[in-house]
Amino acid sequence: MNICCIGAGYVGGPTMAMIALKCPDLRVNVVDMNAARIAAWNEGHLPIYEPGLDAVVAEARGRNLFFSTDVAGGIRDADIIFVAVNTPTKSYGVGAGRAADLRFIESVARTIAEHANGDKIIVEKSTIPVKTADAIQSIVTANSRGHKFQVLSNPEFLAEGTAVADLLAPDRVLIGGERTPDGDRAVATLVSVYARWVPRERIITTNLWSSEISKLVANAFLAQRISSINSISALCEATGADVDEVANAIGKDSRIGPKFLKASVGFGGSCFQKDILNLTYLCESFGLPDVAAYWTQVVAMNDWQKSRFSGRIVKELFNTVSDKKIAVLGFAFKKDTNDTRESAAINVCRDLLAERAHVSVYDPKVPAAEIRADTLGKGVENPLFTVAPDAYAACAGAHAIAIVTEWDEFRTLDYARIYAAMPKPAFLFDGRNIIDLAALRKIGFRASGIGKPL
Ligand code: NAD
Ligand code: UGA
Repeated sequence: MNICCIGAGYVGGPTMAMIALKCPDLRVNVVDMNAARIAAWNEGHLPIYEPGLDAVVAEARGRNLFFSTDVAGGIRDADIIFVAVNTPTKSYGVGAGRAADLRFIESVARTIAEHANGDKIIVEKSTIPVKTADAIQSIVTANSRGHKFQVLSNPEFLAEGTAVADLLAPDRVLIGGERTPDGDRAVATLVSVYARWVPRERIITTNLWSSEISKLVANAFLAQRISSINSISALCEATGADVDEVANAIGKDSRIGPKFLKASVGFGGSCFQKDILNLTYLCESFGLPDVAAYWTQVVAMNDWQKSRFSGRIVKELFNTVSDKKIAVLGFAFKKDTNDTRESAAINVCRDLLAERAHVSVYDPKVPAAEIRADTLGKGVENPLFTVAPDAYAACAGAHAIAIVTEWDEFRTLDYARIYAAMPKPAFLFDGRNIIDLAALRKIGFRASGIGKPL
């Protein structure tokens, strides 16, 4: 059996590397139109930073894992074609700012129909609106030249930074298919791939629409928990409660559970906001404005939390940061990734620049050019904005430090040394609650976290 995956990004690359690792008898071709990305997958320096991924790719690449720009060839050779292209929020026309932009999905469906030389199973790996399988089926059938296609939904639940562990031992693999004999056969074929390493009881099969909807709902529920605890972080700051203590107390209730209760500067990443906006758009399209309004609030709370953090920095620094230096530690949307999409750091930097602060950013994995482009726009310069080579350089002479990403190295910095090189009073705002505030205060810092008193 040959597998092809169209899209060699954060999902296509790691998921196919894992399939190739666990199924040495299958040939896995990952294809993408982005030649630079494919070249990076083929060289030692992978295009995405993901702990443990280097070793997985190194073992399978060249054996049964191949990366190429030959999309047509990949389609021809494959029995199963995964579609893992991007599905960003639409930025134009009807649904702009909320609906999913399906042009890459549609274009791939047409390319598959054009180059298919036999029957194929098409697997939606991308996150898409419910009923997209219908659209793909219509496009490929209308252009089929006699070949048969079965469309399956197999959404991906990996999180960046833990992708390898998530793929090795997923909580579940979800496969949705048409409830017909052909559909059942296609589902069984895909189940047989995952069953090589995932316990059978963790592979759930459903109808197509349940599978498509479950992906959006899973992300909406996860994001909802973060917005819920972040809303409470504001109440904690106003009352002297400690949000970590509250999260711990409520998380011990087995009905609530401890995960995804970490208050933060706000969730980022390419998917939570995009997928909730997509869900709200779908609800409205299906005549359910009250359901849409309910979920919209999760994103609104997140936006508020991001601006609340930068607002608090300005307020605590005596209502002016003009001409003051602020060090921003961390730029990726979470630790252990170089992905900056929708990172809260972008909002924090822009807010501080708007207040005319000098902003100096350090991130262990994100290249300086990307930090600049994300904050200022490509090619735009701002003398107030610098990217530092390390945390100590970012903090030297700063009036305040803002920790925005929870990178482990920020836990073990020599804060006494940093404090000594800062004008006084020296402030530290821990937007991730990773540092012992009492220890910082002993050094002399005026230190606070999210949902903690200054
Ligand atoms: P990405 O932008 O990193 O990768 C998508 C790739 O698809 C790009 O390299 C692009 O060049 C390629 N592509 C687009 N159109 C193409 C075409 N017509 N032919 C060939 N290649 C084409 O995106 P991603 O983060 O990997 O996300 C992909 C999908 O998976 C999205 O729908 C996303 O919502 C979903 N998802 C992402 C994550 C995540 O952690 N990033 C997790 C679960 C699900
Ligand atoms: C998320 C989901 O966790 C994955 O299951 C899903 O597959 C993926 O989206 C997707 O569809 O793209 P990801 O965005 O990579 O994964 O990372 P998360 O660990 O979920 O973190 C998202 C954001 O929430 C980060 O900014 C993180 O710092 C923040 N977060 C997370 C919190 O602020 N508090 C928490 O308790 C947990």
